[in-house]
Amino acid sequence: MQRFIENLPKAELHLHIEGTLEPELLFKIAERNQIDIPFTSVEELRKAYDFDCLQDFLDIYYQGANVLQTEQDFYDLTYAYLQKCDQQNVRHTEIMFDPQTHTDRGIAFETVINGISKACADAQNNFGISSYLIMSYLRHLSEEEAFKTLAQSLPFKNKIKAVGLDSSEKGNPPSKFKNVYEASVKEGYIPLAHAGEEGDADYIWEALDILKIVRIDHGNNALQDDKLVQEIIKRDIAMTVCPLSNKALQVVPDLKKHPLKKMMELGLKPTVNSDDPAYFGGQVNQNYITIQEALKLSKKDLYELAKNSFEYALLDKETKASYLAELEAYYKSNA
Ligand code: ADE
Ligand code: ZN
Repeated sequence: MQRFIENLPKAELHLHIEGTLEPELLFKIAERNQIDIPFTSVEELRKAYDFDCLQDFLDIYYQGANVLQTEQDFYDLTYAYLQKCDQQNVRHTEIMFDPQTHTDRGIAFETVINGISKACADAQNNFGISSYLIMSYLRHLSEEEAFKTLAQSLPFKNKIKAVGLDSSEKGNPPSKFKNVYEASVKEGYIPLAHAGEEGDADYIWEALDILKIVRIDHGNNALQDDKLVQEIIKRDIAMTVCPLSNKALQVVPDLKKHPLKKMMELGLKPTVNSDDPAYFGGQVNQNYITIQEALKLSKKDLYELAKNSFEYALLDKETKASYLAELEAYYKSNA
């Protein structure tokens, strides 16, 4: 099973680039930028990655991101992730980045996007991995601040495929961002959002009906509401599920009770993703491996999950078809 997963062609659709910052690289960048961090070793830092809830994690994740200052930092961070994609047969990835985490510290939007997108271009050339960028608004900040970020992004519109909504979910419902989503869509960005990770099903309804999202990040709590499940199926909307994240943030205390298999049985379209792999103990393949073991998934289930990852990617039809053909051929010869 492990080998089957490792060689399975797949796409990753839920990944925060700031969440790929491994302690080793964090220390290296902190040193070259002469930034003091409140940890003396990689081991001590890793020990701090023990979370009770989403907010607990976000506090340390934003602290980690503070070391990122130059275009080179963003390049190195992104290229390191894309090398891991290459090693895991991730053929396409849709990368979220949080501009406000950086612009609020005085880092230019341009520095962030140029570093990230140069790494993506190099990975396309060196490994043949395709990628899109998802600009995520921080939901603990105001809609007005999201509007500022939207304005800053416009000169780089050709580098950004979609908008997302992340950070502290509870108390920050999707409806808070209605106007900035409307404006983002007018600019040509595809609307996506985190919903139903810690928030209840009504947050998913809002993300669908008010933000008009075409894919749900997480979406676990959709299963609280049968009518919502039917609506998601009717609209043919996928969910980007993140098993190790769910475990680390106590969204799902026991992976044996994870809703992934139930989602598939109901006719929903989940995908498997790593969210913030440096913090949650595994890259995308480890997410597949762990959830396969916990739920006793079959090769056919794993194939379906990888198929969803390509079918619900934001790719054009032809590129999608070519990745799906690659997957099909793999499954036929390895089933
Ligand atoms: N930012 C990074 N990871 C996140 C997650 N899992 N939920 C909300 N915001 C995030
Ligand atoms: Zn996320």
